[in-house]
Amino acid sequence: MMTTLREGSGAANDVSAQGRRIKQLEEQLQQMRTAAVCALNQMLDLKDLNTGVHSTRLAEWALRVAEQLGVSEQQFHDIEVAAILHDIGKVGVPDAILNKPGRLTPEEREVINKHSEYGWAIMRLIPGFQRASLFVLHHHERMDGKGYPAGLAAEDTPLGARIVAVVDAFDAMVSNRSYRQGLPVEEAMRRLRADSGTQFDPKIVESFVRLAVQELPEVSQIVEPTLATQSVP
Ligand SMILES: [Fe+2]
Repeated sequence: MMTTLREGSGAANDVSAQGRRIKQLEEQLQQMRTAAVCALNQMLDLKDLNTGVHSTRLAEWALRVAEQLGVSEQQFHDIEVAAILHDIGKVGVPDAILNKPGRLTPEEREVINKHSEYGWAIMRLIPGFQRASLFVLHHHERMDGKGYPAGLAAEDTPLGARIVAVVDAFDAMVSNRSYRQGLPVEEAMRRLRADSGTQFDPKIVESFVRLAVQELPEVSQIVEPTLATQSVP
């Protein structure tokens, strides 16, 4: 009996040691993913492609919408990564095009539109970022299938990509550019609604606008101080 008990407790110890080890490895993996996001985000900052505030607020809004839509925990993490790094592919676009004041020619627009594929090509190589890399690849698709790079329509585009598309468009509309003033928050929301169903997923627009209306004073406050920091088309 004694022997059986000892054997039993030995097996239990093995299991709990294994459990601790697995937990440790999972934590290490999570730390490495976080470090990879920070490193890549820093690279974007060095190339003046975004600001910490811009990507952080984008990720916060994307996650609030994701929460309202009830996505899985895994998808929640993937959306966070994609929201922060969605434009990472712009590192592959020449500065002369990225920083060009004024309108882009159709050829230049074509070059800049490559950024979603470049972003996917970078992110898919990082273990754990494969799903997020697909959200990055498709963050400029449209509900009517007239987006890029694949021309996917409606729900053929992954949900995470559709969420990033809405919050990124809103952020772009309210941010100042070197060649134009950002729109007022209310006007940006009106435009999101106007393009709901053709460009954007209606349920995501509805969720985002509800959130923004509820917190309009805070949203305006977040937008205002960073207006002068945006310079990327
Ligand atoms: Fe983009």
